[in-house]
This record gives sequence, structure tokens and C-alpha cells, in this order.
Amino acid sequence: MSDEAPIATPSIATDADERVRRLGDWDDASLRSLADEHGTPLFVLDLDRVRANYRRLSAAFPDAEICYAAKANALSDGLETVLDEGATIECASAGEVHRALAAGASGDRIHYTAVNPPRADLAYVVDAWTDEPDLTITAGARDTVDRLAELGYDGRLCLRVNPGVGAGHHEAVRTGGDVTFGIPADRIVSVAESAVSRGFDLVGVHAHVGSGVLDDEQIDAHRRFVDRVAAIATDVDAAVDSLEFVDVGGGFGVPYREDDSPLDLAAVANATRTGLSDLDARLVIEPGRYLVADAGVLLSRVNTVKETPETTVVGVDAGMSTLARPALYDAYHAIRPLARDEASCVDERELVGQTVTGPICESADVFCTDRSLPRLERDDVVAIGNAGAYGYEMASAYNSRPRPASVVVDDGDARIARRRETLADLTRLERGRPDGGTDRWTELTRGSATDSTRIPEVGE
Ligand code: LLP
Repeated sequence: MSDEAPIATPSIATDADERVRRLGDWDDASLRSLADEHGTPLFVLDLDRVRANYRRLSAAFPDAEICYAAKANALSDGLETVLDEGATIECASAGEVHRALAAGASGDRIHYTAVNPPRADLAYVVDAWTDEPDLTITAGARDTVDRLAELGYDGRLCLRVNPGVGAGHHEAVRTGGDVTFGIPADRIVSVAESAVSRGFDLVGVHAHVGSGVLDDEQIDAHRRFVDRVAAIATDVDAAVDSLEFVDVGGGFGVPYREDDSPLDLAAVANATRTGLSDLDARLVIEPGRYLVADAGVLLSRVNTVKETPETTVVGVDAGMSTLARPALYDAYHAIRPLARDEASCVDERELVGQTVTGPICESADVFCTDRSLPRLERDDVVAIGNAGAYGYEMASAYNSRPRPASVVVDDGDARIARRRETLADLTRLERGRPDGGTDRWTELTRGSATDSTRIPEVGE
């Protein structure tokens, strides 16, 4: 037996403050070896951090149902992780319901939020309900309730209200104040009464303020939002006397900038509890970002370094097709080069203004503009922080760039969770390629062609 001490495997991160994982908390050597082993761009999701985030939120909201918004990150490993922790799943589409079921969620753990639902989505979910009668459908329009009735659905129904109060990190995500979402507040009681009279099992009222509530001003808006939702839910409850829960949606923000403070969870929990204290209904919250954002990083490799009179332009191999948030919302994501080896230290590098861009032929393909960063060199691997939420989910194959692979870290061990797309994947759906077979979704979405999954051969 060797008397040498075993080589310690560095853990993927050491969080200085358990409320937040900053980019600097991730272990350079572990990330670097993942990039070397699996290539770049690469999404890394630390399931241990997802669990820690879930437990912290659950401790702040001990009586609440935590309904994870799958749209933030629908990777099966992540869904399975939060299901194991006790979460239910909020699904925004038939595809997310499909994923939740595949991850092992029973119907009582699925809330489907129908936002302008395509016909096939409703038909798919109503189909699923025949096997899983305890699932809940949230309707945001009287019209949606009518369409559900036409499909023979009279199961658990929740009504989404428009509270007229929004909050969030960008105007594009302040849904609570946007008429697109939810039934107008002055009509909700009549929609509720009519749903009950038609035999629906009206169980809940739902609203969502927006996404990325972080600072005091936004927390104040959240407080006004909860008070408004409570008043509306009280009216609905008085009219139908059946409310089982009030769902105040998600929106719990995370710090993206190094000097942003973490969300004051106690303040949000208090405001929510106080606002809803007169209602005898279960509280449901729908966090997406909070559970997964800081559990993920995106690794990308430097291709090109170009000095210009204005700044140094650094081209990396991830772009707006990989992480769309900077291009779409001007969102800030921390960026840090990883040390190349044990002997080198990134902090010793000179700080220079650098513009980090992707490989997409568009001026919007920029992660940061003239940001002061340690001088980047060709072949450096950079880590981009908070990529666990709305990262891969919003990725595309624009410019025919195959989407990257995803690795998960589970109990300290890394494994590939989703393979990198190949060039063959880009043309897989086109003429002359083997078809993918049909499934229920295909049947529900196809037009009059007998089989829209198959494209005839030339001359056929
Ligand atoms: N519930 C509903 C009904 C929602 O629409 C959303 C997000 C959530 C829950 C979860 O919100 P969260 O806790 O993650 O803030 N792509 C944008 C965010 C869009 C959020 C849309 N709805 C971004 O990257 O910032």
C-alpha cells in the first residue's frame, strides 16, 4: 500500500458567501480541465449548487410550494435535481411538459402556464391530463378557458391575472405590467365564476411580476405586486370559495455584477407573507433564475486578439447564438480568464480595456465593451458567469453554429449531460435525410401532408 497522500481533487467551487457564487469562486483548474476534455463553448451546471440554492429558498419560504420555472434551464439533470429536492415544475409549453414528465414528474407536480397557447400545446397537455389527472393548467385569457372547455378539459384550473404592476432587470421582462399577460384584474371574478359554473376545478390565482428583482426599488415594486395579487385573490376566493393556492410567480434576482449584493430573501419573503396573510391559501412561488443562474458558467476559448485605436477586441468561440442575454437585454455577465496552470496567476496580468465578441457576423454579438479585464491571450479559456439561467435555453444555431455541449457536476463529479451538436445535426431535418419518425406532437402539429416529418427525395 502506498503511503503517499491521495491527490486531492479540487472541488468545482468554494463559495465565500453561501448566498451567492461569484465567478471567482469557481475553481480554475477544474473548469480548465473540463474545457480541455469536452471542448468549447461548453456550459457547466453544478447540481450541488442548484441544491444549495433550492434549500436556501425553501428555508426562506418554509410553507411555500417551490415550482421551478423550467424555461430558465430545462436540462433533464437539472429538472431531476429539483424534483428530488421536492419542487414542482412550471412549464411554459407542451415541450416543457414533455420534459417534466420525462424527468419523472407526476401530474400533481406539473403546472402548465398557457401563454397564448398554440392549439397543439393545449391538445398535448389535455392528452397528458387524461393520464395525469392532477396536473394544473393556468389560463391567462377567457378565450383559453373556452378552448380548454372545447377540448373536454374540466380539471384543475388556475387563472393568471394581470396585476398591473411589473418589475425586473429590463423592460422586456417586466411582465406584470404588460397587458399581454393575464386576465385584466377587473374581469377575473367573472371569468372565475363562469369557469366554476362550467365545472372546472378552480384551484388557484396566478401572477408573475417580471424577472430579475434584486434591488430595494424592485423589492418595493414586488411588495406592491403581492398586495395587489392578494386583493385580487381575495375577491376571487369570496366569489368561488375554492382557492387552494395563490401563485405569485418568480422573478427572484441574482447579482450579475461583482459588486451587486445578493437578493435580500428575508425582505422578499416577509413582504410576500405579510401581503398574503389574510388569505387561507397555500403560497406557490415560481423561481427560475434564482435556482440555476449562479450554478452555471459558460466556458469559451479566445480565438483572436486585435488591437485597435479604441480598445482591444478579443474574439471568443461563444457568441450571441450561445448566450443571447447581452445582445438581447444588454445584460452584464462577469468574464474571467482561467489560469493556464498552477504556476500562473490571472490576477498578475495587466488590466486593460477589452471588448469581448463572438464569432457571429453581427454588431450585436458582443459580451462586453471596453471592459477592464486581465489581458486576454489567444487560446485562453474564459469563464462567463451566471450562465445557468436563460443560457442554453435561449441558444440557437444561428450562422449554422452547432449548439454547445453541457456538462453537469454532481456530488463533485463531472459528466456530460448533453452532447455537442454536430454539423450533421444542422442538416438532419432537411431533404434527403432519414426522418425522425412521428410522435404525438408531430400528429398534433402537422398540416394536411400525410407525413410532415418526411421530405420527399428529389424527383419523388
Ligand atoms: N413564472 C412565469 C410565469 C414566468 O414567465 C417566468 C419567467 C418565471 C416564472 C421565472 O422567472 P425567473 O424566476 O427566472 O425570473 N430571458 C429573460 C428572462 C425571461 C423570464 C420570462 N419568464 C432573461 O434572460 O433575463
